[in-house]
Amino acid sequence: MTTMILYPSNYFESNKPETVFSKEYAAALANPAFDVCLCDYDGFDAGGKLKLNRPVGEPAKCLWRGWMMLPERYRQFYEQCKRLNLDLLTDPQAYELMHCFPNAYERIDSGDTPHIEVFGDRIIAEAVNERFDAFMVKDYVKSAKQTAFPQRIKTPVTQEECDRLSVEFIKLRGDLYTGGIVCKQLVELKKYAMRTNEWRGFYLFGKLLDLSGNSMQFPACPAPPQDLVGRMEGFDSPFYTVDFGELADGSWTVLETGDGQVSGLATEITPGEFYMKLANGLMSN
Ligand SMILES: Nc1ncnc2c1ncn2[C@@H]1O[C@H](COP(=O)(O)OP(=O)(O)O)[C@@H](O)[C@H]1O
Ligand SMILES: [Mg+2]
Repeated sequence: MTTMILYPSNYFESNKPETVFSKEYAAALANPAFDVCLCDYDGFDAGGKLKLNRPVGEPAKCLWRGWMMLPERYRQFYEQCKRLNLDLLTDPQAYELMHCFPNAYERIDSGDTPHIEVFGDRIIAEAVNERFDAFMVKDYVKSAKQTAFPQRIKTPVTQEECDRLSVEFIKLRGDLYTGGIVCKQLVELKKYAMRTNEWRGFYLFGKLLDLSGNSMQFPACPAPPQDLVGRMEGFDSPFYTVDFGELADGSWTVLETGDGQVSGLATEITPGEFYMKLANGLMSN
């Protein structure tokens, strides 16, 4: 049985995938295990009903490969897909579990990932001063990387500074601001000629599907240890990702988790290889 892969269509040409996903779309199209379909995500995002580029006659098992959405939006997306005969493999609860890191964090051993403090819309100075020597700011899903927002905040900080940072961060995240503010203990990542050694694991049906470099590292860089990678199996979601980072002392940590449908492919795997593994994983289940 084939699996339908659903992508966002191109804003200008509804029969073509959005450019970011065009290589993946081509890889899925070329693989007999998959059927492909496009939707008008921009229209849906603007509040309209989800529309497909072609009708799907029979209920089909489906994976979304596209933009991230807030958990409540995913719930609507999931329901609308169902009405269009697309049965998304990942239900809204599973999406929220891995997409919103504080949920997954609850189930990760404290030694396997840097400590986080979870707030509402306001970082509390007393809490960060007590728990961190230096920290980074995220929401439940993303940081504000590639902006002027400070990537490293050293403690102690005043409540005034925390308030300023909170307001600025929420503003930068805009419509994508998810859940609340998360402060994460900074760790020292190992560098190989300026590049970190980060890997992304995709897990399908609770088992590792692929583990590939995700920081454009050199081919000789080591992979994360099997025991840590193995401990990240078995989360209650059919398709998720876990990011691993090598630390300066050669040990490894979990940096974040994500939903497999909305996490980018790792830098060191081609879409063709990835979709081949995905096909095998879906078939053997
Ligand atoms: N605890 C940490 N200490 C130091 N650097 C980190 C830490 N967590 C993540 N990073 C670095 O910052 C980058 C972005 O962090 P990440 O948590 O993945 O946020 P995003 O969701 O924005 O990708 C990572 O790819 C990694 O290079
Ligand atoms: Mg990341």
